[in-house]
Amino acid sequence: MTDAFIATLPKAELHVHLEGTLEPELLFALAARNRVELPWPDVDQARAAYTFTGLEHFLPLLFRSAAVLRGGRDFYDLTHAYLTRAALDGVRRAEMFLGVQTFLDAGVPIADQLDSVLSAISDARADLGVDGALIITCQRHRSQADAREVLDLIEPWRERILGIGLGAAERGNPPAKFAGYYEDARARGYRTTIHAGEDGPAEYVREALDVCRPDRIDHGVAAAADPALLARLRDEAVPLTVCPLSNVALRVVPSMAEHPLRTMLEAGLLVTVNSDDPPYFGGYVNDNYAAVRHHLGLDRTALADLARNSFHASFDDPRHIATHL
Ligand code: HPA
Ligand code: ZN
Repeated sequence: MTDAFIATLPKAELHVHLEGTLEPELLFALAARNRVELPWPDVDQARAAYTFTGLEHFLPLLFRSAAVLRGGRDFYDLTHAYLTRAALDGVRRAEMFLGVQTFLDAGVPIADQLDSVLSAISDARADLGVDGALIITCQRHRSQADAREVLDLIEPWRERILGIGLGAAERGNPPAKFAGYYEDARARGYRTTIHAGEDGPAEYVREALDVCRPDRIDHGVAAAADPALLARLRDEAVPLTVCPLSNVALRVVPSMAEHPLRTMLEAGLLVTVNSDDPPYFGGYVNDNYAAVRHHLGLDRTALADLARNSFHASFDDPRHIATHL
């Protein structure tokens, strides 16, 4: 159970995949709306299938479920549902990923995706008081040329998109594969972030910093075993968006008690706590805060530091200037 202190802490959520926020109830509603077949007979059995051996086991299930999102209204409903739920957790700022390639493959036009998500963000700002923003992610198992094509495709929305990122299958797809994508994105004025050091090695985090020069690293937990890299992340003030429940669910760490978050905090890193794909991994942002409080023994000062870090690491914060650029 989430304690009152966590519940009332204002926070920014900086690592959440919109397509990964699809609750089983909405999954079934959209499957019925769009006449898409699901591999499970009901919500309970879908939820029961959310047990994973790792990232590469999870991703196909995520993409399969995302196939129920077909029309603009679906993307609006998804974004509205997440922002409504996030507001209940004290989220005041949400920088949300959308992996557009999954839906382009399924024939959903980019305009249907972006206009609907942006419209739900705008409504939530007025109705819920949550300041939402959109980060477009590409998938690293695809080519850099595919990712650069996405930059061309989203160009008409550039002023309304906060940044770009990179996710999906990390191992075997090192950051250097996407050096040109990051260069192009930066030239277009986007803020940049990259999944690195989730199930990939610390070396991928180092390579991401050297080659892609992102404003933020998503996950980055592999860096915890590398003191020189921890020192570099601290010195360069590179924020890390850590997702504890995700890391346990995808067996990136053996248990919550062994999660390196405390090590990262004690090393002076600008580390934040986030939910990644909440229905799949067992909870929203407050559940993640509660898990680290309970299993890592974080006190109120540490929890408040995490919440404060989330605003400092936000792309909205003028104080956040990555010193390594
Ligand atoms: N890692 C990488 N890519 C993703 C994830 C994740 O946890 N969730 C959705 N896309
Ligand atoms: Zn992620």
